[in-house]
Amino acid sequence: MKNRKGSVLALASLVTAMGFAGLAMAQPRDDEKLHKAMEQVRDKNALISKNIRNEANFKKNKQAVVDAAKALNKIGKEFREFDVADKTGKKDPKAWTAFMDAYIKETEKFAEDAAKEGAKQPDVKKSYANVSGTCTKCHDVYREEE
Ligand code: HEC
Repeated sequence: MKNRKGSVLALASLVTAMGFAGLAMAQPRDDEKLHKAMEQVRDKNALISKNIRNEANFKKNKQAVVDAAKALNKIGKEFREFDVADKTGKKDPKAWTAFMDAYIKETEKFAEDAAKEGAKQPDVKKSYANVSGTCTKCHDVYREEE
């Protein structure tokens, strides 16, 4: 009887340990909210990229591009002070905010450039390259490799 109770306990603690390990693997950092936001960023980014590829697409979908740019900017502002560790597990809120500030500034500028009366697709495309640069810079430090 004593024996059996012991093994039940052992099993229970094993299951608990596995549960924690599973949790830790699925979510190395506390960033489920950030992940959801990044999925939105990914979709807005795809919409913009597609519609700044050539003049015809841009002319037709200019307003959608501007709206997506504003949405990107808003997400940046929402996550500007997010508590997230970098790839090495280090937390440096100032570094995170600096990356976000660059992103916020460029998405804002891009939204203005795209909205300009008579905005030309090649210029808008160049302006978006500056936004993409801010994505990459942050990912280099914060985003785990796939
Ligand atoms: C200030 C930092 C930062 C900026 C700026 C940033 N990202 Fe991210 N991004 C992250 C982090 C951290 C993750 C990993 C979080 C996660 O997916 O759980 C991530 C994840 C992603 C993912 C993966 C989401 C998925 O489905 O797994 C995509 C796609 C992405 N970012 C696109 C972008 C694009 C496009 C931009 C620029 C328009 C951008 N990000 C700007 C930090 C940033």
